[in-house]
Amino acid sequence: MNRRRRVYEGKAKILYEGPEPGTLVQHFKDDATAFNKKKHAQIEGKGVLNNRISEHIFQHLNEIGVPTHFIRRLNMREQLIREVEIIPLEVVVRNVAAGSLSQRLGIDEGTQLPRSIIEFYYKNDELDDPMVAEEHITAFGWASPQEIDDIMSLALRVNDFLTGLFLGAGIRLVDFKIEFGRLYEGDMMRIVLADEISPDSCRLWDIQSGDKLDKDRFRRDMGGLVEAYQEVARRLGIMVGNE
Ligand code: C5P
Repeated sequence: MNRRRRVYEGKAKILYEGPEPGTLVQHFKDDATAFNKKKHAQIEGKGVLNNRISEHIFQHLNEIGVPTHFIRRLNMREQLIREVEIIPLEVVVRNVAAGSLSQRLGIDEGTQLPRSIIEFYYKNDELDDPMVAEEHITAFGWASPQEIDDIMSLALRVNDFLTGLFLGAGIRLVDFKIEFGRLYEGDMMRIVLADEISPDSCRLWDIQSGDKLDKDRFRRDMGGLVEAYQEVARRLGIMVGNE
């Protein structure tokens, strides 16, 4: 079936060699995992929805001048992206207390934070992605101080954009995780947004009802995950049909 060279396979995505040098094809699978793969399921249609939602967001980010790896969507499950050197950090931006922040600091879920908080986690499955400080990042050479500055300012721009986008759709952006990479162009290198932004990587709560429209439905065994992702797509004006 698929004769392209597979460059990388992650929990929810596969990267294949792209049609031109410096490009890759990012394929969205239906696999859902949580708690570092301790929980795993196939959820039919999730990959298609995440491909479309992430395309919508990355396209807008490109338009407003946030550099990303995204070039264009290719089909229902795949998009063409620029090949980047992934920085081994998960960057979490939080606007409202939830999840691990609530657990760690004993702050009730749903508490509005006094300001947006950026956290860094070291991307390492064997270690369960431990939280790290800037000191660790620079000491171990995962990113330079300048790169951390660039990452933080891009993360805040993404947060501003996403907060407004979701607010317009009646959705509260609680928190999200993003990843960055180094894009090499000739002698130049710049930091760009990579990976995906979808209900797998964001907490999204309906403003009226407080209903969860994100992967917490899977993590917390609530059911209705595909319906929730469909609702997010619908409210963002994305048509997800057969092509
Ligand atoms: O679990 P925690 O509260 O730290 O998650 C914060 C945000 O980052 C959530 O939106 C979650 O979906 C996302 N996240 C992720 N991938 C991880 C860890 C967290 O997308 N490995």
